[in-house]
Amino acid sequence: MKNHLTRRGFIGRAAAGSAALTWLSARRAPTVFAADAAKPALLGGAPVHQGGWANWPTWRESWEPAVLKVFRSGRWFRGSGNNVAEFESAYANLLGAKRCLATASGTTALLVSLHVMDVDAGDEVIVSPYTFIATYNAILVNKALPVFADTDPATLTMDPASIESRITERTRAVLPVHIYGMPCDMDPINAIARKRKLAVVEDACQAWLAEYKGRKCGTLGDLGCFSFQESKHLPSGEGGAVTGNSDELLDRCHAFHNCGRATGGFKGARPYFTRGSNYRMQQFQAVLLMQQIDKLVQETAHRRESADYLTANLKEIPGIQPARLPENSRAVWHLYPFRYDAQHFNGLPRDKFIRALTAEGVPCSSVYHEQYFDGLLDEAIASRGFKRLFSAERLKAYRGSFQELKGNREVCATTVGMTQNMLLADRRSMDHIVEAIRKIQTHSAALAKAAA
Ligand SMILES: Cc1ncc(COP(=O)(O)O)c(C=O)c1O
Repeated sequence: MKNHLTRRGFIGRAAAGSAALTWLSARRAPTVFAADAAKPALLGGAPVHQGGWANWPTWRESWEPAVLKVFRSGRWFRGSGNNVAEFESAYANLLGAKRCLATASGTTALLVSLHVMDVDAGDEVIVSPYTFIATYNAILVNKALPVFADTDPATLTMDPASIESRITERTRAVLPVHIYGMPCDMDPINAIARKRKLAVVEDACQAWLAEYKGRKCGTLGDLGCFSFQESKHLPSGEGGAVTGNSDELLDRCHAFHNCGRATGGFKGARPYFTRGSNYRMQQFQAVLLMQQIDKLVQETAHRRESADYLTANLKEIPGIQPARLPENSRAVWHLYPFRYDAQHFNGLPRDKFIRALTAEGVPCSSVYHEQYFDGLLDEAIASRGFKRLFSAERLKAYRGSFQELKGNREVCATTVGMTQNMLLADRRSMDHIVEAIRKIQTHSAALAKAAA
């Protein structure tokens, strides 16, 4: 089986895998001998970590009265109550942003932002290729071309040095992604965008409370986009937000997400005076999010502590390279990633390393692959619309340019990621992660030789 689980699929399996491991370890415990304990779990030894990991999402009984209150009020639509507006102001406050607009999802936050930054049919947007597919789709739905900047293998984020050569007269915006909650190096990205008069929309869908040089992700470009989907650190099933510091832009966002109705200073003669759609958040989502703000702050501190501890220990293991963050920045770790070099593990291929580590009770995956080769973009550029909007030469050169993404290819081929819920465990569990990787390294020759 290819080791290309989707991130969400992986999160689901990680939780299920933990439950299975707890059950297996309970059954197996009395029959493990000392010699077996040292063997890799994949070859019949005992797993290093036997306790499983916390489920996600989690909730507290104390939230129930507030949720029930909305339920019993019958005021479920944003226009008939205050919960959504209250959340917007709390979230803007938390980020130090002037304004926040809650949306139905992170994808719709991206759609609103790209529309408001005037990304139109036939335009091009320079984007990180190392991301969840929604980032590509938000550009494609606008009938614009997602032009991929390369990924810096040291940081796993957009390599600013690869942006300028990709700018054409059609380029309207840059869309950096703070992947896994690790801030992109925004100063050089913003400087290029300013120089070339491009908009900057941050995909901060995995970066609630991440910081770059003292400012929160989502407040560093023109607009920032967040997701509150169920796997996220601040979850409400589905949900999203656009943040920013310009009243004018946020009024436009509000109008667009609300069927084109006038908002604030952005109004015309007719009630539905501008193009728009319905991307509104519900009151239920907002009340759930409001309850979780303190929890987000506490858990972010916990994840950071665990991640710092892992980084300090894992960087000592030859062949394991934790990601480098930009100077003076703090990540929030939606996943904890590291790059794996098989040469230091007797050539043990990454997918087998992943299976061996998962068998040790440490679920992990290869996360994102080179999605631009999956056919989605071929389908888009072969469509009637794209053929009308772009010349055949441009589309051919565009398709050829995927081969140039050497940094991204390396990242996709060597990264291993663990989900955020694992970072909420105790110090002993972090030690287990380190110990499990060391154990696999010790036995890597035997693991490499063992049948697939
Ligand atoms: C980087 C990134 N961008 C965009 C999205 C889309 O958000 P949503 O699923 O809320 O539409 C996600 C969600 O997984 C994401 O991780």
